[in-house]
Amino acid sequence: MPQFNDTELTAAVIGSFEETPDPRVKFLMEELVKSLHDYVRKTDLTFDEWGYAIDFLTRTGQKCTSSRQEFILLSDVLGVSMLVDAVNHREREGATETTVLGPFYVGEHKPMPHGADISPDLAGERMFVQSRVTDLGGKPLAGVPVDVWHADDDGYYDSQKPDYETRGPSSRARFVTDADGRFFFRTILPCSYPIPTDGPVGEMILQTRRHPMRPAHVHFLVDAPGYEPLITHVFIEGDKYIDSDVVFGVKSDLISKIEKRSDAVMPDGKPAAAPWHLMTYDFRMKPGKGTAPKPMMAVTEDA
Ligand code: BEZ
Ligand code: FE
Repeated sequence: MPQFNDTELTAAVIGSFEETPDPRVKFLMEELVKSLHDYVRKTDLTFDEWGYAIDFLTRTGQKCTSSRQEFILLSDVLGVSMLVDAVNHREREGATETTVLGPFYVGEHKPMPHGADISPDLAGERMFVQSRVTDLGGKPLAGVPVDVWHADDDGYYDSQKPDYETRGPSSRARFVTDADGRFFFRTILPCSYPIPTDGPVGEMILQTRRHPMRPAHVHFLVDAPGYEPLITHVFIEGDKYIDSDVVFGVKSDLISKIEKRSDAVMPDGKPAAAPWHLMTYDFRMKPGKGTAPKPMMAVTEDA
């Protein structure tokens, strides 16, 4: 019967994957084992610490439902989501920068006409968003679906609220670019908000004395045929948390200066009831393939 010391054990486990037919799976498993074993050796992990980790991961899985993905949240706060984003977008060649999808994308949004107010029932300062989708040379891309979503003035997404199924979407819509690549809509100015802290990920954030906040932003998913799907946010300049996003998602090119306006009409010529904000941000698409992501939700419901 073979017996192994702590380094021989690593070689033995790696060897156990020798017959794996898919070379990529074989490589991923070997590297995973190497990194995990290195961690245990470097830290001299105790039985109590190993037990805590197993319990933490168990509770992370148990917190997942059809509308909550605690494992993605864990990946986000550990910087893994942004690292996967970085290694897959090493060369942007003048294209708009990408960032995390986040757990509040619910799949294809309901199409709305240009100029629509996507937050008609919500309190908050009014904002007009205008944008243009082009290729890298500035050629407008027409007929492109753009999903947008953001948090309300209390820092919650519509999908986090218990009455979401009956009330339907809010601060969430799809726009399709016009012949000039443009789309525009009305909404409220989003604010910074905490990620959900009522699960094991929140416990970890609080125990390590981190704050749970994300700086104010609007999410965009631009999916043009013949171009890489663009998953990004536009962040609001001056936000208190712009330099300390809990999920490490801010990139300087994605920060937008929001103009405070008091004109009586908005850019589409329709009246403005009160002072309002203007967000102007254009998206440059990188040629390529790919399909927009589906929201990754757990397959099982809470018991
Ligand atoms: C979000 O921006 O919606 C988000 C991203 C990562 C973790 C939590 C929330
Ligand atoms: Fe968000």
